Amino acid sequence: MQVIVKNTVEEMSRCGAEIVAEVIFSKKNPVLGLATGSTPVKMYQELIKMHKAGKLDFAKVRSFNLDEYAGLAETHDQSYRYFMNFNLFDHVNINKKNTNVPSGLAKDIPAACAEYEKKIVAWGGIDIQVLGIGTNGHIAFNEPLSGKNSRTRKVALTDGTIQDNARFFAKKSDVPTFAVSMGIGTILEARKIILLANGKNKADAIAKTVEGPITHMIPASFIQSHANCILVIDKDAASMLKGKYPSSL
Ligand code: F6R
Repeated sequence: MQVIVKNTVEEMSRCGAEIVAEVIFSKKNPVLGLATGSTPVKMYQELIKMHKAGKLDFAKVRSFNLDEYAGLAETHDQSYRYFMNFNLFDHVNINKKNTNVPSGLAKDIPAACAEYEKKIVAWGGIDIQVLGIGTNGHIAFNEPLSGKNSRTRKVALTDGTIQDNARFFAKKSDVPTFAVSMGIGTILEARKIILLANGKNKADAIAKTVEGPITHMIPASFIQSHANCILVIDKDAASMLKGKYPSSL
């Protein structure tokens, strides 16, 4: 696992965008694994800037998102499909038919999850998976106790995660309590992983992810075992790390 510590969120986001762009440049039919939440928003803005400057073509890009709230329609302004359209897809030349977000409204959720997994494999697997991290160490909506071999499934959100995400909703009781999420096993199959984190509220989770033991109590710690994994974090998120880490590779 490589760790890069940047001074600011802007630098973190530019670095993240360069790493994702590099994958888009180098693959014929790149498959991106994408995350929502506040962390990658500026990185998506950097990718949009590159596209608008004529430097990045999304015509051949395909994507799979990590997760979606159960019970929210795609048109709900807090759904993750809505987020992706608003923050990235509507601003680049990606074909929306080539973008996938788990359905929060599937009648048969286990069948829809199995389909999602099958489609990832059928499209050649994920070239780069973008991750954020929860304050409790979750990745996607794999909360503590999630198993290393977990696959896309319906999951219950912890009270802490509901509290963390309440800022996006009118009130805490509006936050869905379940989600559909790729599993840890699904994520670890990506050929490359990039995890972004910024802010002091992520420092404890980052220290445990990077320097702690691999444990299902900190699901992000499972990425220590991935062969091609890079963390790009700002200095606040790095503030509880004991080791010294470089600012570039
Ligand atoms: C979002 C996701 C979540 C977030 C995490 C951090 O698709 O999978 O794991 O990455 O909750 O959220 P922010 O970035 O809002 O702090």
